Amino acid sequence: MATRHTAYYEADDADKATRQANRRPRNDVPRKTAAEALDGESGVRGGRRLLVDTHRATTRVLRVAYPFLAEGGLGADGTYIGSDVFSGGSFVYDPWVLYQSRAITNPNVLLAGVIGSGKSSTSKALITRSIALGHKAYVPCDPKGEWTAVAEAMGGATIKLGPGLPARLNPLDAGRRPSTVASDEWQRIVWSRRRALLGTLAESTLGRPLAAVEHTALDLALETVSYHAAPTIPDVVVALFTPDRAFAERAGLRTTNLVDDGREVAHAIRRLVHGDLAGMFDGPSTTEFDPTLPMVTLDSSWLGSGGNDEVLRLTLACASSWLEAAVADPAGGNRYIVYDEGWRVMRDPALLRRMQEQWKLSRAWGVSNILIVHRLSDLAAVGDLGSEARALAEGLLADCSTRIMLRQEPDQLARTASLLGLTDVEIATIAKLPKGRALWRLPNRSFVVQLVRHTREVELFDTDARM
Ligand SMILES: Nc1ncnc2c1ncn2[C@@H]1O[C@H](COP(=O)(O)OP(=O)(O)OP(=O)(O)O)[C@@H](O)[C@H]1O
Ligand SMILES: [Mg+2]
Repeated sequence: MATRHTAYYEADDADKATRQANRRPRNDVPRKTAAEALDGESGVRGGRRLLVDTHRATTRVLRVAYPFLAEGGLGADGTYIGSDVFSGGSFVYDPWVLYQSRAITNPNVLLAGVIGSGKSSTSKALITRSIALGHKAYVPCDPKGEWTAVAEAMGGATIKLGPGLPARLNPLDAGRRPSTVASDEWQRIVWSRRRALLGTLAESTLGRPLAAVEHTALDLALETVSYHAAPTIPDVVVALFTPDRAFAERAGLRTTNLVDDGREVAHAIRRLVHGDLAGMFDGPSTTEFDPTLPMVTLDSSWLGSGGNDEVLRLTLACASSWLEAAVADPAGGNRYIVYDEGWRVMRDPALLRRMQEQWKLSRAWGVSNILIVHRLSDLAAVGDLGSEARALAEGLLADCSTRIMLRQEPDQLARTASLLGLTDVEIATIAKLPKGRALWRLPNRSFVVQLVRHTREVELFDTDARM
């Protein structure tokens, strides 16, 4: 006769579990009765008792015998997020641990959900809790300034950038040379970082890729200013408007040609010196990046750009270049880099190209990029089908092994399902998720997880105060 089911969870040990599973007599695993129970009649989640034999097995065996009821989870190594809605067990996540165990192929995370569904709260919980494990976090994109209080509570720092504010960053800062990198190699790294930034700024402002002659003009201007101890953006603008004769001759050019070639680039970059971004990136840094802090955020809510995302994008380009110097240090530990409201900066191919490079380097740098968007169609909205921007944005999705889906609007479900390869059950689930509950989708597994917050976190993560 069937008796009440009692499953004892034991430590998950692959060898032990396999041996046990092989050794048990067939009738010890109550497949038939369990299958009947799962068949809907007895209402698995309806609170009725399961009529199966009492037995004991490891979670590895149980999760196969009772799918959804005895989920083995992702292990206990990592940051506690909340409860697995189906199994009731704890859900723990750590991209670096999961990368090592090959559960994911890269540490990057895409987080999507409708307005107010709990995207920021989920990422804040993941990050603040993982600081206890020694991880660090940088938030270079915080257009609402909502990470400032979180950074303060964690003993981190916030840099507030905006017209008239005292903080100024020199995006051409070399940063600290890691002890493992030789001096001449470091010079090359710094040169290429500066060059990449100047190219991004020029292309972003001009709204088109640079011509070959403009690349040459920019190369020579950067080479000229690289002899300064701490070159700044105004130095580059001057070098573009008045090229150095010796450098021009060495490149087989006349200075008059160079002036013509670099004129548009010079005007584009000049915007950071005399235009609407003046005073933020046009001189020596007033603050030093402290890589030992657990959290550094960049509050761009003071930019006053309103609906103008272009200023935000240029700020992100400068700030992330400034951050890169610290991120590339192999001794810096594992770091999260969060792009909250990431959809606002994704319209620009030049910036997307830089983000894609960072995504590709994530494993080498020990970095997990977290991109927060409203819906997956934000990635398609960056450009027409076949455009470079769209290919780059959709490439970012492909490079995010973990996709955390909070509630999606009904008109987004079909697209989400096809991009992520979701099952019908998963689609039905994300259509009805309440606040703070998300589908965590990893390459071969998915979990529905309810974020569990401490009362202190509820206060700290609240973004409804003004409502
Ligand atoms: N698990 C939860 N239970 C109840 N309320 C929650 C939960 N998670 C978040 N909230 C609340 O919902 C509100 C919105 O959360 P949050 O700011 O994280 O959403 P969001 O998706 O980032 O919003 P936006 O699209 O505006 O950026 C916050 O005030 C937060 O306290
Ligand atoms: Mg948010």
